[in-house]
Amino acid sequence: MKLRWSHAVIYVRDLNEMVSFYTDALGFQVSDRGELDPNNSSPEIAFLSQVGSDHHQIAFAAVRGDGPSTTLDHMAFRVDNLAEVKAMAEKLTADGRATGLHAVNHGNAWSIYFKDPEDNGLEVFCDSPWAVQQPQIQPWDLAMTEEELRANTEEQFGKEAGFMPVDEFYTAHRRRLGEK
Ligand SMILES: [Fe+2]
Repeated sequence: MKLRWSHAVIYVRDLNEMVSFYTDALGFQVSDRGELDPNNSSPEIAFLSQVGSDHHQIAFAAVRGDGPSTTLDHMAFRVDNLAEVKAMAEKLTADGRATGLHAVNHGNAWSIYFKDPEDNGLEVFCDSPWAVQQPQIQPWDLAMTEEELRANTEEQFGKEAGFMPVDEFYTAHRRRLGEK
């Protein structure tokens, strides 16, 4: 298994100012923006990218204020498939040093989140076959087979805005970012 660097999510104080700087000064575009927990009134998260291969390269969660003293929520690595996500979860469980290991279905990604021994947030994920407007957060059971998780993902996210085959999303995403 190879862990390929994907993205960072950091805590910010002024979401509009940060989005403005990263878009105007650095050339990012906003891929999605919405409440962290769409089911409960909560702070916003904004996802930014400037490459057609990634939905987001950096995301800002507007929770810094008097909250966490670090700006970093988590660092994320992509693996090739679901078997590798599960293998990583098993390895971490056997190792015993990671804390807070839990599985999250974002609709477009099947993830595990955990903390390293110094409490830094990490995510290891594989892409799902679909895209869906973000953010989305649902638990999934690591014991599910890939077939079960696919069915579960279609059932949970199929009616959400922007649900489509992932290739369709990235074709449009590349076009929006001026790539071929
Ligand atoms: Fe992430």
